[in-house]
Amino acid sequence: MADVSAAPRPIHIAPSVLPADFSRLGDECRALEDAGVDRIQWDVMDGQFVPNLTFGPDVIAACRPHVSIPFEAHLMVETPEVLLDRYVDAGCELLIVHAETTKHLHRCLGQVNDAGARAAVALNPSTPVEEVEHVLDLVEMVLVMTVNPGFGGQAYIPTMEPKVAQLRSLIVERGLDVDIEVDGGIGPSTIAGAAAAGANVLVAGSALYKDPEGLAHAVADLRSRAEEAAGLAPSTQAVG
Ligand code: DX5
Repeated sequence: MADVSAAPRPIHIAPSVLPADFSRLGDECRALEDAGVDRIQWDVMDGQFVPNLTFGPDVIAACRPHVSIPFEAHLMVETPEVLLDRYVDAGCELLIVHAETTKHLHRCLGQVNDAGARAAVALNPSTPVEEVEHVLDLVEMVLVMTVNPGFGGQAYIPTMEPKVAQLRSLIVERGLDVDIEVDGGIGPSTIAGAAAAGANVLVAGSALYKDPEGLAHAVADLRSRAEEAAGLAPSTQAVG
């Protein structure tokens, strides 16, 4: 059987809705789907793990019927075990648990899988890859934060690229089918470095909403930059 871990992985563009107009989130999700994104990331913040407060499960549930693309919940919350079932019920197919937020990470990721969702684990900039070495078999993705979590619009931390490369080597060495996501400061001038290091799921918020040519152009531009950096053939979506 071909070694899936070593093959270049498809590039996914995952917008953060953090910069969106919160008074029109259903419409904003539809606009993102129309712009060609692959999934939508909800930055869930509890004001404890990070100094910001955002979406509860009911807000996400209200947006679920408006689009058909997958939702992922980035749980920047203490004690994720307490609420994770609610985010699954709200329509999130993938839950991203921060390694720093639970004493029992292995058990918590198993709880995500038992709740019928797919699991992923996130690492803050200072958290080493070794923290997830023994749970890689429980996840379909590892998120390497390229900012300190809590807010959009922060500067990309380029020193995370060797960490992405180290994680990619570990995944390939183990022959695992695991994506690497990066989140924070991803835009036209930073996405190539992250993709070249081994990230294939790229979260962008500000860069999408800042593009003067609109969301569709921003999505296609980021995708083509990432595919080129990853050595992938350009996808069919032309960049206007
Ligand atoms: C940080 C958030 C941000 C957001 C994207 O907690 O997770 O990284 O999703 O922010 P931008 O793309 O604006 O840096």
